[in-house]
Amino acid sequence: MAPIFEILDKDAGGRIGRLKTPHGVVETPTVMPVINPNIQLISPKEMRDFGAEILITNSYIIYRKEELREKALKEGLHGLLDFDGPIMTDSGSFQLSVYGSVEVTNKEILEFQQKIGSDIIVPLDIPTPPDVSWKRAEEELEVTEERLREARELIRGEQLLACPVQGSTHPELRERAAVHGRDLEFEVYPLGAVVPLMEAYRYAELVDVIAACKKGLSPTAPVHLFGAGHPMMFALAVALGCDLFDSAAYALYAKAGRYITAQGTSHVDKLSYLPCPCPICSKYSAEELKTAPNRQELLAKHNLYATFAEIRLIKQRIKEGNLLELVEQRCRAHPRLLDGLKRLYEHSEWLEEVDPATKSTFFYCGPESAKRPEVLHFEKKLDRFSLEGKAIIRTRPVKGEKEYARVLVFKPPFGAYPVEMEEVYPFNAEVPRVPDREALEKALENTLKLIELNPEAEFTFVCEEVFKHPLLEKLAEKAKIVYRKDWEK
Ligand code: GUN
Ligand code: ZN
Repeated sequence: MAPIFEILDKDAGGRIGRLKTPHGVVETPTVMPVINPNIQLISPKEMRDFGAEILITNSYIIYRKEELREKALKEGLHGLLDFDGPIMTDSGSFQLSVYGSVEVTNKEILEFQQKIGSDIIVPLDIPTPPDVSWKRAEEELEVTEERLREARELIRGEQLLACPVQGSTHPELRERAAVHGRDLEFEVYPLGAVVPLMEAYRYAELVDVIAACKKGLSPTAPVHLFGAGHPMMFALAVALGCDLFDSAAYALYAKAGRYITAQGTSHVDKLSYLPCPCPICSKYSAEELKTAPNRQELLAKHNLYATFAEIRLIKQRIKEGNLLELVEQRCRAHPRLLDGLKRLYEHSEWLEEVDPATKSTFFYCGPESAKRPEVLHFEKKLDRFSLEGKAIIRTRPVKGEKEYARVLVFKPPFGAYPVEMEEVYPFNAEVPRVPDREALEKALENTLKLIELNPEAEFTFVCEEVFKHPLLEKLAEKAKIVYRKDWEK
């Protein structure tokens, strides 16, 4: 049997995948617009025009309201929403986390989702908020796990069953929850209760939560980041291996007069120009948009266009193999996202395991790039080079280098590598002429390591004048350092 989720392309932890559902195949990464069955600013059918392939709605809202419930039971979920593509349904857990209780059991809401023909069914998990004690997180996780077992026994057919992964801000619990879910074999894995982290811009902790969950899940499982709908953090989350997002943000932000871009959010009243090429922003001036009688609808449409444009860009970047460059750009949109980027590269050890070995040219985008998985990969392989005799290390070719037994290129952030590998990924990297401190430091550390690993060789380092770093003194103890301006003399 063909797998439900098929991975077509990869870059860093990100992937382009195909998720099969009873109502068709969805290409990931993608965003599921949240449909409120009570209020629809944009009809479910119309969502396709923005690029939506799958929608998400709340089965508990339908269940609770007699009129909606009867219609859904009679005409099915797809009849109720008048949409024939895939629809995921949430269970009421979010209401549980907001109001403290819900008037339905796990079994009841699961059977309801099954009956109305949901494509992806979600059990009634307990969304444990961030920062709670280990004890509380563990106790709530046990309840969630019991409900997951019940769900897995009940739902075994065409419909996909989701396994929310909880565990609050305790990475060990998140990983344990993921392993538990993996062993029970679900079709989709939403990472739960991350909304409070995103609302508070706690992106570094969000990265830790995602990484911990991913470490416990099968690398071939589709992962949904519950409640993530702002395009500015999609690239980061995709690089960590998230495949599905859901956006209520497009509508909620529109209601508050907020204009979404991949670089952040503005209040429409503060805009003098509309910096987006979508049909709304091309047709209306900022002034017209602000004063339009249907402003909320226009903003919601723009927000959806901006959201799906970012998804397409991310997919293109995965194809090209330069997703991490996009992540580094996007994470400069907000200082707290930059914290997230730094935290991402603290997981480079894990990223390195999943990252494809070759891709398009590595672009150095700033000091964080010195911690990319490719740099770590090179560092780990330093002991594979075996050097003897006279070796010269230089940035660009220098006179007389042919007289040396080995020629090594010095390129921050990597360090020194044999000239024969110059055109090979990632050494064909595009880097600045003047390295920043982080790149130079990593390169000098790696060069020192290489020299220490090869005591039989005798090293000469032709150093650029602009290279200033305390490690050069240490290097001078093990190699002959000549500045370029003195070399040619
Ligand atoms: N929506 C946002 N967060 C959550 C969560 O943790 N669980 C469920 N079921 N829905 C959510
Ligand atoms: Zn626009």
